[in-house]
Amino acid sequence: MSDKPEKFIDENGLRLDGRRVDEIRPMKMEIGVLSRADGSCYLEWGKNKVLAAVYGPRELHPRRLQKADSALIRYRYNMAAFSVEDRIRPGPSRRSIEISKVSREAFEPVVLTHLYPGAVIDVFAEVLQADAGTRTAAINAACMALADAGIPMKGLVSACAVGKVDGQLVLDLNKPEDNYGDADIPMAMTSDGEITLVQMDGDVTPEEFKQAIEMCKEGCRQIMELQKETLKNKFTKLEDVEISDDEEEVDVSALVESTLEPSGDDVEGEEESEDKSDDDADQEEEVEDAGEDSVDEPGPESEDDEDEDLDSVESHSDFEAVEMVEDFEESFTDVDEEDATEDEDDEEKA
Ligand code: CDP
Repeated sequence: MSDKPEKFIDENGLRLDGRRVDEIRPMKMEIGVLSRADGSCYLEWGKNKVLAAVYGPRELHPRRLQKADSALIRYRYNMAAFSVEDRIRPGPSRRSIEISKVSREAFEPVVLTHLYPGAVIDVFAEVLQADAGTRTAAINAACMALADAGIPMKGLVSACAVGKVDGQLVLDLNKPEDNYGDADIPMAMTSDGEITLVQMDGDVTPEEFKQAIEMCKEGCRQIMELQKETLKNKFTKLEDVEISDDEEEVDVSALVESTLEPSGDDVEGEEESEDKSDDDADQEEEVEDAGEDSVDEPGPESEDDEDEDLDSVESHSDFEAVEMVEDFEESFTDVDEEDATEDEDDEEKA
């Protein structure tokens, strides 16, 4: 670990990495990076590199863990052994269990879990390279992976931290500021500015705390812009692919139906079925590792026909994606929950 710097902010008001006190580190993100996950996101924020994957909604096994009126969300934050200078001991630690719990609670309020009773949504966040602010980076990536999976949400959640160095509040701490600063306050917020996570390490005055919330709001607003832009780019591209054929008219409804119906290859033929059960077994292994809420003996997903039906109806990210192209802003800002429930009921009946 490097030594404590004499000064964190120079006479021009710039920090050690050249940023202003209210400036966040450069961030970039990409969604849909993992083909086996229902939704995924790779995010870089300064030197942090985080990968998030979402599986579900899918039926939760064992059934005794199911919630009758909503889906269960499980979240696992994990730092790769090679993500920091000193090797991280593999497996859950007190720190990672705590971060997993508070982070799940940070985005859970925006997910319309009541649409999927008895189901589970598994969210994995793997920190590949850590450089301060990994829990907030992971929340931002996880939220994007949920959106990429087509999981209905009231809006997005963004997260960043505010800290205090040289007696001044600074947005989005870098490593030396995190290690040697006087305070570290990670926060997460919805697009309405509702705070869903706040933690504090260190000391600030009540006045500074209010100021910290305002700084964080601005940081989260900028992150949310990027999150929305990333979603728009993906779904606009999807729209282009499906309707830009100027030779022939494309039947979009047929395309949507074809994404919902399992292809013959997926359900017929012994070889393919064997492959599928291998995949399921792999996935179940991942679920078993899903942090504090992990299940003891999760049964295979394709246990019976009922389970397959549930998979085909509920893991329909492409279908949700097409819907979002049609009305992107509404889907992520102000979902009418009653309508959403009716839609879902209709889908299940169909
Ligand atoms: O990453 P975040 O700021 O959310 O959490 P932290 O507990 O405040 O950790 C700050 C930084 O310390 C991490 O981002 C890592 O770079 C580093 N760290 C480490 O080197 N070894 C650990 N076991 C935990 C954190």
